[in-house]
Amino acid sequence: MDEIALRVNGEDRTARADAGAPLIHVLRNLLDLKATRYGCGQEQCGACMVLLDGKPTFSCTFPAAEAVGREVETAEALVSHPLREAFLELQAGQCGYCLSGILMSAKGLLDRTADPAREEIVAALDPHLCRCGAHERIIGAVALAAARLRGAAA
Ligand code: FES
Ligand code: FES
Repeated sequence: MDEIALRVNGEDRTARADAGAPLIHVLRNLLDLKATRYGCGQEQCGACMVLLDGKPTFSCTFPAAEAVGREVETAEALVSHPLREAFLELQAGQCGYCLSGILMSAKGLLDRTADPAREEIVAALDPHLCRCGAHERIIGAVALAAARLRGAAA
């Protein structure tokens, strides 16, 4: 077991985990951050996506030890983010299983692109599967959140 010190959602957190433990294991099972979800475990569905130094990263395969000293963001950080409001308002989702990961990729996009074109939103969400077929509302919610963020910045 190794001690793994992480910076998660602006807080310093430590856990003891096997060398090579995937980041999602540390987040969910050791740090009790349950928003990040496990789907395929093979970088195929996007349910586990988190931001690592702002970059969408599959936490199901990324070794937690390699996240030491880097900024990890999870969906818990989005409680008061315009993305959350927009997704609720447009009911962008059905079962919701895919949404934690989608929200993180969307945040990564909006952090680097204030006014994303529809094609850019689609490309950013390409790693994600939504088996409920809520794609159109999800794309609309990301665009709405972007517009609101621009309004807030104006
Ligand atoms: S659980 Fe990581 S991509 Fe599916
Ligand atoms: S809302 Fe059910 S998988 Fe996307």
